[in-house]
Amino acid sequence: MHTHLLEENNLSGKYERLQTEYVQFDERVDYLIKKDYTGFNITIPFKMNIIGYLAEISDNAAQIGAVNTVKIIDGRLFGFNTDGIGFIRALANKNVEIKNSSVTVLGAGGAARAVIFSLIKNGISQLTIINRSEQRALALIQDIRKLGRFSETKYVAWQQDNIKEVCQKTDILINSTSIGMWPNIEDTPIVFEDELDDFVVVDLVYNPLKTAFLKMAKNKGALCVDGLDMFIYQGVEALQIWFGQEIKFDYEKLRRMLIEKLENYGRN
Ligand SMILES: NC(=O)c1ccc[n+]([C@@H]2O[C@H](COP(=O)([O-])OP(=O)(O)OC[C@H]3O[C@@H](n4cnc5c(N)ncnc54)[C@H](OP(=O)(O)O)[C@@H]3O)[C@@H](O)[C@H]2O)c1
Repeated sequence: MHTHLLEENNLSGKYERLQTEYVQFDERVDYLIKKDYTGFNITIPFKMNIIGYLAEISDNAAQIGAVNTVKIIDGRLFGFNTDGIGFIRALANKNVEIKNSSVTVLGAGGAARAVIFSLIKNGISQLTIINRSEQRALALIQDIRKLGRFSETKYVAWQQDNIKEVCQKTDILINSTSIGMWPNIEDTPIVFEDELDDFVVVDLVYNPLKTAFLKMAKNKGALCVDGLDMFIYQGVEALQIWFGQEIKFDYEKLRRMLIEKLENYGRN
């Protein structure tokens, strides 16, 4: 995606994957600085570890408690989080009304945190968090309460019956767990039985694009948003941070290209 976007915007540069083990983390950050990288993305499981290396962190990333984008200026690291922005743009792309909506989020990991703080900023009225680990969900709720301006949050334990009951009272249901991700593509966090008209279902998982969860939701009449748009917009936002300019792109063309790549990615 980045190679394509760099070319389309006549920017010179290269985006590469540097697989990093825990023990190499220090060394890797040092390498990126010494080799004069413009910046880097950082993913599971290092989105929190990088915070200790930063000269500055954006307010948004600090609130989320995770960094996925770093810009290097004069050997100093500046941290950002573009996941939430990507998520909001993905919903806007599908004309999903966020303001005053009631939202249920499955999951309480890094992606859930990015999504939730962005949703609160965009004016949701109610939030329910359902997560397997109660402790993680409660820690997240505590951080939300620290905002001091949003109190409509509750935690519900991870049980099918609970999930079903909550979903009936929700406008937007978001899967921010990794359930359904390749290779466990038959897995789904919930089995829908009732019709889902006027209901928005979002899956952050983008590999596969059509998860079992989304396929089922679509069959029941929900408006579905897959994880690819969030992926696209968080990436575009990261490039804008690194290059300090607007990144132009043909959405349809880029999406088509990525879908083609995803059809083979991780399957051989
Ligand atoms: N579309 C995008 O641009 C985008 C961006 C970021 C992430 N994502 C996707 O979002 C997903 C989550 O990423 P993350 O960074 O938040 O990961 P993470 O921090 O590791 O969190 C994983 C979450 O999934 C839950 N979970 C995992 N396996 C489960 C299971 N078998 N049953 C119930 N809950 C389970 C975990 O629950 P516990 O707390 O109980 O462990 C936790 O809430 C991944 O699939 C990732 O690819 C997509």
